Amino acid sequence: MLQVSDRLIIDFAADVARDLALTPKQLQSKYLYDALGSSLFDAICHLPWYRITRAERRLLEQHAATVVRMLGDDPEIIELGCGSGEKLVILAEALQASGGHALVHLIDISSQALEQSERRLGRLQHVSVVGHRDTYEVGLRRAAAARDPGARMLVLLLGSNIGNFDAPAADEFLRGIRGALAPGDFLLLGGDLVKPVADLLLAYDDPLGVTAAFNRNLLVRINRELGATFDLASFDHRAVWNAAAQRIEMHLVSRADQDVAIEAAGLRVSFARGEHIWTESSYKYLPEQLEAMGQRSGFDVAHQWMDRDAGFALTLFEAQ
Ligand code: AVJ
Repeated sequence: MLQVSDRLIIDFAADVARDLALTPKQLQSKYLYDALGSSLFDAICHLPWYRITRAERRLLEQHAATVVRMLGDDPEIIELGCGSGEKLVILAEALQASGGHALVHLIDISSQALEQSERRLGRLQHVSVVGHRDTYEVGLRRAAAARDPGARMLVLLLGSNIGNFDAPAADEFLRGIRGALAPGDFLLLGGDLVKPVADLLLAYDDPLGVTAAFNRNLLVRINRELGATFDLASFDHRAVWNAAAQRIEMHLVSRADQDVAIEAAGLRVSFARGEHIWTESSYKYLPEQLEAMGQRSGFDVAHQWMDRDAGFALTLFEAQ
């Protein structure tokens, strides 16, 4: 039988083959997060120009007690894309103060992120942790199937992770979350707000080159895992604000006409000089667009907390 890791590699090769055959060429952003990619993303979160993580942490610190009060005793918490697990610790501490116990499901595609956050949360006495190395959809289904019907559930979709989905996919994803929940359960959604273009470009094309390294590491990963021959020096990082679509895009731009072989996908791909591989979309929102997204998907808005200076909103939804 195939191991989980074999299955993930086969899916990876198939996705890469399919997406590099599209016009424009693309790669899925979920593949940015191998061990090095996850560490580079952690570094991005410390950059002065990337304010999402700090703004969200401050909002969580201010409002964790309110969230915990609404959840009641002994909730079940599911974090989609747990990263290093640091934000969950803030909620868990508020829960400890109230004397409750939480069952926490961590769902992340990155085994390194999962291990790190399992370790972090595992130290807390009043929290039991279950890790799922899987996509959001599969992990969510597993966690919901195992739920205690007496407990309130809280799904965390933080860090503007929703921003990787285009509008129809985001709606469908939120409807999927709603479908896994019961009336009275909660969704806490972190969303990055539309802000001046210069600020966005600095956040996604930082002067230290960390975001460029994060983006190009996707090629390093494809070389290593799929036996490809990408020449790293031949691709530039580019961040673009697409105003019509209200999103930041990351691209890798070919510096030359070149061919790349990808052994595990059994193909050769030609790049023209100046041709782009589109590697990520990061949608930005107006506060009311975040509320409307949840409302369209079967949720009521319970609270919306905002950091106007950093341009970030945390919206707490209750399932109808
Ligand atoms: C983790 C998807 C929310 O879009 O801001 C950071 C990823 N990409 N810098 C984002 C990312 C470039 C991040 N998300």
